Amino acid sequence: MLPTYKLMIPGPVEVSPEVLAEMSAPIFPHYGPEWTRFYNETLAILQEVFQTQGTVFLMVGSGTVAIDACIGSAFLTGEKILVGLNGFFGDRLKAIAESYGLEVVPVVAEWGKPLSATDFEAAYQAHPDARGAAVVHLETSTTIVNPIEEIGPVVRKHGGIFVVDAVSSLGGISFHMDDWCIDLCAAASQKCLGAPPGLAPVAIGSRGWESIDRQPMKAHGWYGDLRVWRWFATEWGDWHPSPITMATNNIRALNVALHQLQKEGIAQRLDRYRKLAIRLRHGLIELGLEPFTPESLMNPVLTAAWVPEGIPSSRMVNFLADEYQIKISTGLGALKERLIRVGHMSPVVEEADIDHVLDALKAFHASK
Ligand SMILES: Cc1ncc(COP(=O)(O)O)c(C=O)c1O
Repeated sequence: MLPTYKLMIPGPVEVSPEVLAEMSAPIFPHYGPEWTRFYNETLAILQEVFQTQGTVFLMVGSGTVAIDACIGSAFLTGEKILVGLNGFFGDRLKAIAESYGLEVVPVVAEWGKPLSATDFEAAYQAHPDARGAAVVHLETSTTIVNPIEEIGPVVRKHGGIFVVDAVSSLGGISFHMDDWCIDLCAAASQKCLGAPPGLAPVAIGSRGWESIDRQPMKAHGWYGDLRVWRWFATEWGDWHPSPITMATNNIRALNVALHQLQKEGIAQRLDRYRKLAIRLRHGLIELGLEPFTPESLMNPVLTAAWVPEGIPSSRMVNFLADEYQIKISTGLGALKERLIRVGHMSPVVEEADIDHVLDALKAFHASK
């Protein structure tokens, strides 16, 4: 048996008892009129969460499968793509783009600093033939939120296709796919949406489809070719709306999580997360653990702090797991042993959980 931990990591997150219960519901097949109605209702709520009039699919897999599908479907081998690099997951976007034979033009910011729309403008001046851009919204490795709403209009002005990785932000940070000029967007079930891992929501706007439909032949592969998903949604839409056997229990669980989000209200939920973030931040400062970002760059769902000089963050992380059964994270990449990261992106996280993490960190301090 695996032990149970309080998950205060940036995903996967703890889910509500109602969401969890759906994972043990009797197996339902992924076709037929009842399923199709249920599936389409789930997609309609996701459309609202993405804030898009575009098409939404639920791919079975983790967030990466949706990112892979967006880039692989909308870009042709040999095309140039501007990729925002200011953390571990920006590097991942670059690796995915390169795996499809795209020429990556890096648009770089220091880890811990947001990307800048001005730099994307400059990159377009230097590379007017760039076909589009890909950027991470919440860079989970550093807790930095990139200014998608400023970068999107720059990409649109140059006629580019804009792909956004909203894996760790959708449902927890204000998001407006259409207003922010995003053409293709990838997310994941196991973070701010408050459901178990296993599903990757993907959204495609009309310009995203135009770019996909330029392809004379099929895209790379089959599972990630978004035209395959569209074909089944339209041609078999009245009885079997997906190309594959769906993870129906996961979709049931996500459906309940989305209804809970609707019931609470997105604005109310974001406000609740923001208050938790402020509580955690103040508590960390009181303990002498300096937050990684200034208050102006604070985000509502994930907080990082420097660990004291000479203490590897993995020691703190292990102490909390062993002594308090709380999982938090170290940093990533070059910051791995220098930061702790505390996720508060689950709908079930409460003030008491934040206080529990702070108490455990205090106990670590006392044990040194
Ligand atoms: C911003 C971001 N992008 C992509 C990923 C990869 O997502 P997944 O592990 O669901 O494939 C993560 C995972 O933490 C992430 O935080």
